[in-house]
Parts: sequence; structure tokens; C-alpha cells
Amino acid sequence: MDADASFLSRLWYFAMPARELRRGAMVSRLIAGHPVVLWRDEAGRACAIRDLCPHRGVPLSCGRLTEGGREVECPYHGWRFGTDGACTAIPSLVDSQSVDAGKIRVRRYPVAEQQGLIWLWLSDAPVDGPALTLDETPAFDAPLAPAFGPDARPKLVFSMDFECHADHAVIGLMDPAHGPYVHEAWWWRSRRFMHEKAKRFGPVERGFSMLEHAPSKNSFAYRLLGGQPTSEIVFTLPGVRTELIRSGKRHVCALTAVTPTDAQTTRVTQVFWWDMALMSVMKPLFHPFARAFLKQDRDMVELQREGLKHNPRLMLINDSDTQAKWYFRLKQAWIDHCAGGEFRHPLTKEVTLRWRS
Ligand code: FES
Ligand SMILES: [Fe+2]
Repeated sequence: MDADASFLSRLWYFAMPARELRRGAMVSRLIAGHPVVLWRDEAGRACAIRDLCPHRGVPLSCGRLTEGGREVECPYHGWRFGTDGACTAIPSLVDSQSVDAGKIRVRRYPVAEQQGLIWLWLSDAPVDGPALTLDETPAFDAPLAPAFGPDARPKLVFSMDFECHADHAVIGLMDPAHGPYVHEAWWWRSRRFMHEKAKRFGPVERGFSMLEHAPSKNSFAYRLLGGQPTSEIVFTLPGVRTELIRSGKRHVCALTAVTPTDAQTTRVTQVFWWDMALMSVMKPLFHPFARAFLKQDRDMVELQREGLKHNPRLMLINDSDTQAKWYFRLKQAWIDHCAGGEFRHPLTKEVTLRWRS
């Protein structure tokens, strides 16, 4: 199984909840191995550059913002960088010394802020050196949670760090067979009521969808929504899963973003939007349940880490692990595409997968 430290590029990665990026403060994040500093410029727009001063490597996030957020100043020798990553000042220079500061650059990362989330575009451009460019344009838009507008605020956001490579977090997310074991609970489902499922899947751009279906009758949580709820689950690279539940005219959208920190650590963020009054009433109950649910997944990857120390060969079986197979094939197709080839989607038509859970 792939446990490579290199992560996919030319994709949007979830960076952080927008409300945690306050004006006047910098936030440092390691995203897919890239040290990144995020802040808001004088207009309140989120911006991000590499969190590493090109002079001696000090994290810029340890310095300060100046000019109301237009520049960040390194704490070591006071070099300053604009939101585009170009150096704007080298205070130690005397008048007769000419260094073209603007040629000194830090990698800038395009960011998108929508639906209360901040996304970071990771290209495959070099992080430093003469080929470093300041004007990268993402090839497509950042992910949008379906059924909610770009200004919809999440009702609930929380993150958890998993001690595993992102691949394990992703395939855990799309693994239908662990539910009755890992998430066994009266309010979710029990292994005593396992039964055969058949779900239809189809390709979407850079991912696949479990097409709209009536969710499992052995799930108490869905029954609470009342009516005849339907669910559609979409997965897209690098690791974004959205589940849209409709019940009449009402919706709940759950987005799970798997963001690699580095090769050993992964941040999993769970975001919910809803327009159901019942959900808002139940939020104080729902929040601890949702956290407990994610913690069960985290505890399992922690157990898995014990076994993975021995570098075992692992297995992916049909059909319960078929989505994991698609994930690895999608990754490879994306790598081939970034190397100049056409993107060959591993899923060319709708298929039905069957399992017991
Ligand atoms: S290390 Fe940043 S200014 Fe010298
Ligand atoms: Fe799970």
C-alpha cells in the first residue's frame, strides 16, 4: 500500500475554518508537508505564503504583521514580505547597497474562502529558486458543499489529528465494513442488525459518488430526521467527502476533509451545514456524538499503527474495499495526468457494490 511522503499536487487542500483566522494574527499550519503561514490582509482577505524566511529559514509566523496586514516581517532581521510573497524591505541595507529585494521571493499559495472554510491550492511549482512564480492560478474552483451557498456558515466544525498517513484516514472514511464494529452504538448501528447492502456508484470529476439512495434502515441517527431521507456521498481527491442528506425540502451536509500534515500525521476536519430547525435544537447532543464517532475512527488508526510498524502487506477485498481500490487508482491517474498525460478516470460507468454491514 502507498505510504509515500509525497502528496498529490494541483489540488485544493482544506486549510482551516475561516472563523479561526482573525485579523491581525498569523496562523501557522503544516499542510501536506508545506509550512504555511496564513493571515488576513488589510481588506480582510485570507492569504498564505510559505512559512519560512528565505534569508535564514526562520518561520515568518513568529514575526509580526505590519501595514495592517499588507506585509509580514521576519523576527530575525526584519525582512518583509507582501501577500504575494515578494520581499519588500531589507532593513540592514545602506543607501549605496543595491539588492533587488523584489527578486527575493517566498512561495505564495492561492487560497479560497467560502462556506466558512479556507482552502489552499497546492501546485507542483517549486517552493523556492528562480523558477518560483508568484502568480499561480488554480485550474478549478475549491470544493463547495452541495445545496448550500458560498456564504453559508457551518453550524459545526471540529478537527482531530490522526497519527497515520492520509491514505489510511481516507480509506477508513470510505470503508463501509467497519461501521458495525468501530461505531457500534445504540444511536448509530449495531453488529446484531447487519444486513446486505447494494449501493450504486458513479464517476464524478476527480472522484466518485455513492449515488442518491435511502440510507440504511439500521441507522437510528437517520431515522431521527423523519420523512424519507435520501443520501448522496461524493468523494474527491485529495481527500474530501461530502454527504448530502435530503429530507423533503431540508438538507444536512456533512463534509469531511482529510488534510495530510506530514507523512505520519493527518488532520481530519468534520464540518456540518444544515437548514433543519430540529438539528439546531439537537446540536448540544449531536456535537458530542459526532466527536465520539470521529474519535472511534481515530482510535482504530492508532491501533492500526501498532501493526503497521512491522510493515505488513495489506489486502483490499471486493466489494467492501472497492472504493479504496478506486481511491488508489484515482491517485495514480492524477499523478499521470500531472506528468502530462490525459486524466484516465478509473471508473467509467455506474456500478453496484454489495457488502454486509
Ligand atoms: S532570517 Fe528572516 S530576515 Fe533574516
Ligand atoms: Fe468510521
